[in-house]
Amino acid sequence: MAHLLEVKGVWKFFGGLAALKNVSFTYDGGILGIIGPNGAGKTTLFNCITGVYRPSRGRVYFKGRDITGLKPHKVCRLGIARTFQIPRPFGNETVLENVTAARLFGGAGAVSIKKAAEEAMEVIRFVGLEGKAGVRASSLNIHERKRLEIARALVTRPEVLMLDEVASGLTPAEVDGIVELVKEINRRGVNVIWIEHVMRAIMRAAERIIVLDYGEIISEGPPEKVAKDPAVIKAYLGEEYVA
Ligand SMILES: Nc1ncnc2c1ncn2[C@@H]1O[C@H](COP(=O)(O)OP(=O)(O)OP(=O)(O)O)[C@@H](O)[C@H]1O
Ligand SMILES: [Mg+2]
Repeated sequence: MAHLLEVKGVWKFFGGLAALKNVSFTYDGGILGIIGPNGAGKTTLFNCITGVYRPSRGRVYFKGRDITGLKPHKVCRLGIARTFQIPRPFGNETVLENVTAARLFGGAGAVSIKKAAEEAMEVIRFVGLEGKAGVRASSLNIHERKRLEIARALVTRPEVLMLDEVASGLTPAEVDGIVELVKEINRRGVNVIWIEHVMRAIMRAAERIIVLDYGEIISEGPPEKVAKDPAVIKAYLGEEYVA
């Protein structure tokens, strides 16, 4: 059986800088966390999977199909959706318009604008933004923007949802709300790969964690194992975390 996702020997160079160095892993569902210091290559890994960048070397397979270098909208239509670390909604458009547009352009299967708007409204309710459907995206606070990002990705009905720091900058109560939302998304059958610095969130949500440092996987396993790994403590978590 092919893996849901397989990243095989992926390298990504920016000029002389190797942002990813021979990264390989397989993923067969559930909630996978990706952690590591700033600049470790986490977002670059997402970009190489979702077609924003073509890997300099290596391949990416989705359900056995080679998707290396496919354009982002094609990857999305195949069933991999992602959020952006810096939310980038169309600020002048409303929440409903933003999510409807995501359905029309990113989703699998063509639908009418009316049907797209209905599906968008359903997802907006699901993420808890129903009171904001008619307001401009630019007037949302950071927490609402994170939820809008999730809605725009979810409305494409992905098999794999990739989240890039959706809990950063939020209050502890908001973080807990996001953890619950992500777990609910996963219970409904969507697989989640989640990049996060907020340990309170990722250590609770993820079943498995991959740790990147300087473009390399330095540790991998269940959260409790990774949190105790001396290499991870040294590179990222620090002694205070363990204490
Ligand atoms: N488009 C680009 N051009 C040049 N260098 C880049 C580009 N994108 C990323 N990099 C570099 O690649 C390295 C990895 O960056 P990346 O954004 O993937 O890190 P990250 O793990 O997501 O960090 P953070 O936790 O701060 O978001 C960094 O050194 C970064 O400066
Ligand atoms: Mg990043």
